[in-house]
Amino acid sequence: MGAVLRPGHPDCQSAATLRENVRSVRLAGAQSVHFYHYGLYRERSLDWVRDALTGSAGADPGRPSGRESERGDNAMGAVPKIAVIGLGIWGKNHALAYADYDGCELALVCDADPERARATGGDLGVEWTSDIAEVAACQADGVSIATPDHLHTAVTMQMLEAGKNVFLEKPLATSLPEAEQLAAAAAKSGRIALVDFQNRWNPAFMNIKESVAEGQLGAPVMGYVRLSDSIAVAESWLSWAGKSGPEWFLFPDTIDIIRWIVGQEPVSVYALGRCGILSGRGIDCWDAIQALVQFESCFFTFETSWVAPAGSPSVVDSRFCLYGDSGKVDCDWAYNGLTFVRDRVEYPWIPIGTRDRYGHLTHFVYEPMRHFADCLAGTAVPETSFDDGLRNVAVIDAIRRSLLEKRPIELTP
Ligand SMILES: NC(=O)c1ccc[n+]([C@@H]2O[C@H](COP(=O)([O-])OP(=O)(O)OC[C@H]3O[C@@H](n4cnc5c(N)ncnc54)[C@H](O)[C@@H]3O)[C@@H](O)[C@H]2O)c1
Repeated sequence: MGAVLRPGHPDCQSAATLRENVRSVRLAGAQSVHFYHYGLYRERSLDWVRDALTGSAGADPGRPSGRESERGDNAMGAVPKIAVIGLGIWGKNHALAYADYDGCELALVCDADPERARATGGDLGVEWTSDIAEVAACQADGVSIATPDHLHTAVTMQMLEAGKNVFLEKPLATSLPEAEQLAAAAAKSGRIALVDFQNRWNPAFMNIKESVAEGQLGAPVMGYVRLSDSIAVAESWLSWAGKSGPEWFLFPDTIDIIRWIVGQEPVSVYALGRCGILSGRGIDCWDAIQALVQFESCFFTFETSWVAPAGSPSVVDSRFCLYGDSGKVDCDWAYNGLTFVRDRVEYPWIPIGTRDRYGHLTHFVYEPMRHFADCLAGTAVPETSFDDGLRNVAVIDAIRRSLLEKRPIELTP
């Protein structure tokens, strides 16, 4: 009798699991063990296969494989365990990203709504709970948090106090004092604490950042960024829309991406906005905002709204334009394409996708979660820190003050 094992998702999440599986089938009488299909798995799976075979032939079964010892894995040789809190529209993507990734193990999922937690746990074959105290007490190395915007602080503080590394959805918080509290708690904890600024993994913006860094457009002069949603998002998707607003929900992405691309800090803001459409429908937040933000040596208009027509072809209405002193770049997020204009117009190809032919998720939105897992494993240097999240919230806070006080607001360095 021979046995066929799959050295990766969904059967096997770590070298330790594969060693155990090889040992088990040999004990059950298998005379040969085959691995299906090594060509389909990540390079790391080859380490696992070698380790499982040498381990079952008598080597120290607890010895980490080469790659694992390089990244200082834990004593079991296991990949980091990650729990997810908040399994709504976006949090399900967190759970999916970790379940799909060979570099970590999705250990537990949690939602205040037990039916939601049970459904996601069942779909992904992991333990579930509706009690975040169980997440704080579980063995997970890291916790990924996708609760509503205004509920980030309490949940994240509880996880940091429990000694967990955290990965938190944007915005860091919906007030400056809460953002300061979180950044201070993260620094004090010494844990890895990241905010999901996913566009740093967006191939379009990676391309633009590189072009700016290489001076292909000259020095940044000015730009315009729109990120708006269909009114359906505020009216029907988010039950908590009135506790957030387009500035908290959408500005974090655009403000972070410009700060990252130009490598400069915002120094002052002046904003105009209006309310009325959403408040007339019982949702107490801004309809639309334009904010003119002065960076150290360039300026950008940031535009956001939650009142794009429900009949729009895409739920997201987005546009990006950056002028340098010798060129400009336009990006239409709706089709994820780039248009470079220098002495001629170019449309460079950039990859987008959902799943590759081997079933692995390929879209960039999953990369920040993989980055968190890699940081826990010690194979990546953390970026998108809570300090980045704090600077981001400080700009949004200044925009809100400018809207209310109807004057430019200076940002403290
Ligand atoms: N990065 C992105 O592209 C992106 C996109 C959409 C949303 N988001 C962010 O993700 C977060 C969640 O948004 P969403 O659209 O999934 O909202 P949602 O309302 O669909 O889901 C939130 C979930 O959190 C659960 N929850 C609330 N309080 C909880 C608690 N104390 N413990 C456990 N579970 C709790 C709710 O039951 C709900 O299932 C928000 O911060 C949002 O800004 C990010």
